[in-house]
Amino acid sequence: MNITKHIELKHFGSYDAFTDLEKKLIKATYQATFKSYAPFSKFYVGCGLLLESGEIITGSNQENAAFPSGLCAERVALNTYAHSGNNSKIIALAVTARSEQYDIPKLLSPCGACLQVMSEMIQRQNADFKLFAFTEENGIYVAEGVESFLPFGFELK
Ligand code: THU
Repeated sequence: MNITKHIELKHFGSYDAFTDLEKKLIKATYQATFKSYAPFSKFYVGCGLLLESGEIITGSNQENAAFPSGLCAERVALNTYAHSGNNSKIIALAVTARSEQYDIPKLLSPCGACLQVMSEMIQRQNADFKLFAFTEENGIYVAEGVESFLPFGFELK
């Protein structure tokens, strides 16, 4: 049987259409790139989680000379949230990056491993969340749920 999925990402050239909390999330996410420790890639990633309570939790990529020991911004933020015990649900996740070395892709998608962690997080909290992927140059892409970025996640049942 064939499987077909429809994916839609909305593009916004400015923040005008967003709520005040979403604007705050985007700002905090950008600021998180300045906490990144990326001496090896010089690719500074920031991630922000907006909770139902209005709280914002951020993360940035933290690299290590033993390369696989580093961690992406998204998982730093998601693991910080999970460990905090805060049970206010995540309603949006934002990601952005700056770099001295690489071109930032127009659509800055989180990596597959981070998407897999997000996909399990929406199962844990029994609610999906919006995804904002933005860059200074190319505006903001918004997806209504994680599935738009990871249509086929891995699941153990
Ligand atoms: N990185 C993230 O923080 N998030 C992603 O989704 C992909 C990549 C980081 C890992 C590494 O520190 C740098 O970006 C270059 O790959």
